[in-house]
Amino acid sequence: MEEGLRSANWFGRKGKDGFIYRAWMKNQGIPAHEFEGKPVIGICNTWSELTPCNAHFRELAESVKRGVYEAGGFPVEFPVMSLGETLMKPTAMLFRNLVSMDVEESIRANPLDGVVLLCGCDKTTPSLVMGACSVDLPTIVVSGGAMLTGKYEGKDIGTTDIWRFSEAERSGTMSQEELSVAEACMCRSQGHCAVMGTASTMASMVEALGLSLPENAAIPAADSRRKVLAHLSGMRIVEMVKKDLKLSDILTREAFENAMITNAAIGGSTNFVIHLLAIAGRIGIDLKLEDFEATCPDIPLIVNLQPSGKYFMEDLYYAGGIPAVLKELKNHLHLEAITVNGKTIGENFEHSRCLNRDVIATVAEPFNPVSGIVVLKGNICENGAVIKPSAATDRLMNHEGKAVVFESIEDFKACIDDPDLDVDENSILVLKNVGPKGYPGMPEVGNMSIPKKLLLKGVTDMVRISDGRMSGTGFGTVILHVSPEAAVGGTLGIIHTGDVIKLNVQNRTLNVDLTDEQITNRKKALEGAIGFGMETRGYTHLYQKHVEQAHLGADFDFLKGKSGSKVARDSH
Ligand code: FES
Repeated sequence: MEEGLRSANWFGRKGKDGFIYRAWMKNQGIPAHEFEGKPVIGICNTWSELTPCNAHFRELAESVKRGVYEAGGFPVEFPVMSLGETLMKPTAMLFRNLVSMDVEESIRANPLDGVVLLCGCDKTTPSLVMGACSVDLPTIVVSGGAMLTGKYEGKDIGTTDIWRFSEAERSGTMSQEELSVAEACMCRSQGHCAVMGTASTMASMVEALGLSLPENAAIPAADSRRKVLAHLSGMRIVEMVKKDLKLSDILTREAFENAMITNAAIGGSTNFVIHLLAIAGRIGIDLKLEDFEATCPDIPLIVNLQPSGKYFMEDLYYAGGIPAVLKELKNHLHLEAITVNGKTIGENFEHSRCLNRDVIATVAEPFNPVSGIVVLKGNICENGAVIKPSAATDRLMNHEGKAVVFESIEDFKACIDDPDLDVDENSILVLKNVGPKGYPGMPEVGNMSIPKKLLLKGVTDMVRISDGRMSGTGFGTVILHVSPEAAVGGTLGIIHTGDVIKLNVQNRTLNVDLTDEQITNRKKALEGAIGFGMETRGYTHLYQKHVEQAHLGADFDFLKGKSGSKVARDSH
């Protein structure tokens, strides 16, 4: 057993090398028999007080450790950079790839046989999974769980209500004092956003991929069963090491298809697309933007959670959680896909059942027949753009309107509430230069606020187009991830205010009413002016130089694939 352990190449060595490896572990008061010859399990922790969604992770790590000890392993907790969605500027997405590098190199460089990834707030899941994929050791994910449902003035609230509160405050129907009260009512426990936003989508994604134990996605952060799951995950990773069950054994093409089908059924975030593409790129699965539609043509929305529906993650857990959702999807899933507990995904949901049909509907009688992510193509987005129809407005799905163009997010903020802005409810708002390279970092600004003068008229939705992203908690007829982005010469960059744009979601098209010749001429006229301010130093320079476009997952071109777990050179 010892010879088979990767960590034996550190702790099992004789002479000076082994002395150094062991002696400095002993300075933590750990006797040699604790780590010699036992599976050494890294607990990759994104705890940070600057990532409030993950602020309870020290406690969660203790539960994992107890499980690892119980199963005969040796746990070692290590920190990586933590991405807090709410506090980081200019956008947490700018740092997703950086964290993935931190995770990859921290795992590869150290005497680890298996890894537990503690993931919570939006980007902490994809960044950790991407990094771990590039090493490919036995790995299990423990998510932090969602907050308890917010309660405000007798009503259930969650992060999606922020957009409603903000519009209410701008239109004068909610005071600043009321907003302040609502803040505490919304975030009343530990955990991440309680709607089917990006964090919940990512937790559901890892469960559907088979990377976590069943029920991982929906147990509330404050529920003691979350700690039990962490404990059991600690026990399980030791067995995974013994069986050498690696990420690449679980992350097959079938597992990715299961995740895409599940995402359609739960009304998951549009950010799912960009993160799953990046994860696939690391593990070596050839996933394309078009696959997100092709894989699930008749999957309806069966989970009634905000922002597409009414309920919250806590309700999803009480209704049966993701296992009950998977059971409803059994005729569409690859049931034989293996998961971290060694069972197939079909075996995992065998005994689960739905306890509330208002929260988890059936495929035959869905909550909404419209679901998933629609991929649009056209002269605005030759490489694609995405829209989430379940969060959009029916009457706008086939729409023609005049563009109102904003050259940057600053331009948008300065002009949107100008009473003289030439805009009406049929206009289409276009925001440029918020893509991966142009912003840089592709922020969540795509669900632009409705102009104040239209809000006052009762307008609640408009078609909005950008090369940026949208918060998973957002909603509206919002077209995102336009590729190529404006800053690299995409057609989005040459659209003028007043140009007519045609959206037809049913036909999957998005076009500006210009001929090819007009587009070419406008691009020629702008030659030299198109582009982005390249940062001259630091991480942002690296990011702008190497980040790929949204339809490829916005990973760095040099991070595709994996380097594996072998360390070629040894300085001791
Ligand atoms: Fe962390 Fe929403 S802010 S999940």
